[in-house]
Amino acid sequence: MSLRIVSLGKGIPAHRVSNDDLAAFIDTSDEWIRTRTGIESRYVCRDESLTDLATAAATEAIERAGLAPSDIDLVIGSTFEGDYLTPSLSCCVAERLGTQCPAFDLNAACTGFIFALEVAAGFVERQKAKRVLIVCAEMMSKHIDWHDRSTCVLFGDGSAAVIVEPGEALKYISISTSPNSEMLSLPVGTGNSPFVHHGKTKGFLAMEGQKVFKFAVNVGAVELSKAMSALGMTPEEIDYFVLHQANKRIIDSIRAKVGQPEEKFPMNIQRYGNISSVAIPLLLLEMWESDKLKSGDVLFLSAFGAGMTAGSCVIVWG
Ligand code: UT7
Repeated sequence: MSLRIVSLGKGIPAHRVSNDDLAAFIDTSDEWIRTRTGIESRYVCRDESLTDLATAAATEAIERAGLAPSDIDLVIGSTFEGDYLTPSLSCCVAERLGTQCPAFDLNAACTGFIFALEVAAGFVERQKAKRVLIVCAEMMSKHIDWHDRSTCVLFGDGSAAVIVEPGEALKYISISTSPNSEMLSLPVGTGNSPFVHHGKTKGFLAMEGQKVFKFAVNVGAVELSKAMSALGMTPEEIDYFVLHQANKRIIDSIRAKVGQPEEKFPMNIQRYGNISSVAIPLLLLEMWESDKLKSGDVLFLSAFGAGMTAGSCVIVWG
């Protein structure tokens, strides 16, 4: 197929928040959060903007690839809200980097990285772009209700960037949507139009936690079996299952269904919480940095998110 990953970078806020820090102002405990989610800490923006984080991630990815911003042919941002609704986050990053190529955002919530890869593959295959910069970035801390313990303990802020080029590494990719606006949502307000009778103020992220949990476990297993039958492979042939980092128990439940060893399911949710579409590229970056990834390793990437969106791909590393 059409592409390979050539570089990655990250932008993480300076301020780390532990579970005990949260327990200081909300009715929760380190014990509850650890055992129910696997999360021990998360990073939260204080002084950084989302554009700061995303630009840091993009700059690191470009430098590590030995490239200049002018070598980038397309910037795709994955976020559900940048620092502005318009211009898009990717335009703000492009301005900071000094690129002159097209830049746009897509919003597939936590599945955004897989959707962005699919879009990038289309541009590369049609030879409309050679090098695509995908920047995933989310400031979850401005979308959650800090008085709601059932959601505010779960999320973190951050950014991760990936550069892809033409190559043969992407063996399979699939994206899907099972429309549902109730299970997981973040309402936008109606502004102050004098013509609206029942105006709404901007809301906070809301979710039906157990329904999302079940959706995630089911879709993770279905995505894998679709990929395996398309490629004529078995899960034994996958070296790493790089799954969306939303809850350690979701990952453990998928692992139980797949029947593969724990070492094949890397996690970093304990340090970052759930950073939406940033989770998978950030985990890939950490595996790359720690020399865990060897050339020829077969990776199954899979995510789910609001929409309800889902997506997966199989990539051969190197
Ligand atoms: O990117 C996608 C985003 N979302 C997800 O992936 C979320 C998927 N769902 C989940 O991860 C889990 O459903 C949660 C972590 C959100 C919740 O875990 P749970 O095991 O489903 O807990 P629950 O909602 O059934 O709540 C159990 C109890 C309740 O108390 P009672 O009614 O049993 O007395 C909650 O009020 O835990 C209570 N609770 C908490 N207690 C301490 C809920 N949140 C907290 C908290 N600290 N932070």
